[in-house]
Amino acid sequence: MKEKLREKRFRTRSVAGTLALGETIAEILRPPKLVILSGEVGAGKTTLVKGIAAALGAAFEDDVTSPTFTLVHEYEGPTIHLFHLDLYRLETEEQIAVLGLEEMISEPNALVLVEWGERFESVVNLADAEIVMEHGEGDERGMIVRWRDE
Ligand SMILES: Nc1ncnc2c1ncn2[C@@H]1O[C@H](COP(=O)(O)OP(=O)(O)OP(=O)(O)O)[C@@H](O)[C@H]1O
Ligand SMILES: [Mg+2]
Repeated sequence: MKEKLREKRFRTRSVAGTLALGETIAEILRPPKLVILSGEVGAGKTTLVKGIAAALGAAFEDDVTSPTFTLVHEYEGPTIHLFHLDLYRLETEEQIAVLGLEEMISEPNALVLVEWGERFESVVNLADAEIVMEHGEGDERGMIVRWRDE
């Protein structure tokens, strides 16, 4: 993530709004493969993944649950193999190394969405894009999407 980045900002006022943004963001994330989702607990990272998975036809929103304890969930869409990771409970680079992130992104149709990925240098080095989610007042959420301009 060192080279030129493009950036877009979004704001939503409800869960439904965040879910609906999945479509726009799925479009932006077409070429990027590994995407870090950052933002505090409850910022809406998993909610956005539900919207992205649904937009890609990879899963129904309700079938996407947080991989906090399982670490990785996979969904197969018509054109995309979606991986959803949550690294909140992990602490060391050794724990990251065994996840096989490089193997996941080596798949031609992979999209790898990683919650809490910014905490690990190895994940940051593999990232093609990042989505920073900010908790606003009440149900307001802000989103900054940054991705490589190639
Ligand atoms: N505009 C909004 N967008 C997303 N979630 C919202 C919004 N307004 C309220 N919420 C609530 O905020 C919470 C977001 O939870 P979610 O699991 O998506 O967050 P998260 O960032 O993945 O948290 P964690 O770090 O624990 O994984 C849910 O309880 C949801 O109902
Ligand atoms: Mg989450």
